Amino acid sequence: MMKRPRLTASSSDHPAVRRYLRDGHYPVRGVDRHFSWDVWTHPERQRTPQAEAERVTARSSSLTHSKGPAARQPFRLRSWQAAIIRPLFSTLDADGYRSIRTAFVFLPTRQGKTELAAALMLYMLFGDQEEGAELFSVAVDIDQAALVFNVARSMVRHDPELQARLEVVPSRKRILHHLSSSAWRVIASDAPSALGVNASGLALDELAAWPHRGQESRHGGER
Ligand SMILES: Nc1ncnc2c1ncn2[C@@H]1O[C@H](COP(=O)(O)OP(=O)(O)O)[C@@H](O)[C@H]1O
Ligand SMILES: [Mg+2]
Repeated sequence: MMKRPRLTASSSDHPAVRRYLRDGHYPVRGVDRHFSWDVWTHPERQRTPQAEAERVTARSSSLTHSKGPAARQPFRLRSWQAAIIRPLFSTLDADGYRSIRTAFVFLPTRQGKTELAAALMLYMLFGDQEEGAELFSVAVDIDQAALVFNVARSMVRHDPELQARLEVVPSRKRILHHLSSSAWRVIASDAPSALGVNASGLALDELAAWPHRGQESRHGGER
């Protein structure tokens, strides 16, 4: 039997990762996936900007698209998508923590914003070694907040490896990763449950639809 090189959380020495970095091709399913999603059993991690950038790129792009012509195909990051997430996740302070906490993405519709947000949320949910990650997608109302969630839900449904690791609770709009006690919840911005959250990641989709300060003060005074 062929001995497989050990897969680790960073895995940049794995032949399949090198192949991916060279020609952008990697298999989506099965044992050939070039890393293990079980970062919990491979806890070592190289916290260098280069390794972090490769990690988020490789992991988010090993997901599959949820809809449209690319549905069920590997998520090949568009250049603007990569240009946003690489610096976002790889700009580190002296202690190795990310220094960029917020990214605003303003692009016309149908460009892939929601899809990208879903991929990043899944990454932060269980691909990033964050114990007890608390993620929220928030919008003016619950249907809108569910947009990103529904995309992620299809990504999980299309992928047996994700299905085996995540529990999707459609009725309560939650995705749970039990191994790391991490959860992603959908809430409306005005819901009482929006108070007191201790979020490790937030996705705010369709920001243009949010009431802005002027409107808010007309209806409800300053907040
Ligand atoms: N990197 C990509 N490659 C191919 N198709 C993509 C990519 N990113 C997004 N898409 C597809 O583009 C379409 C629009 O994406 P969506 O995220 O809904 O756009 P937006 O939120 O900007 O309106 C979807 O069908 C999605 O699957
Ligand atoms: Mg969208």
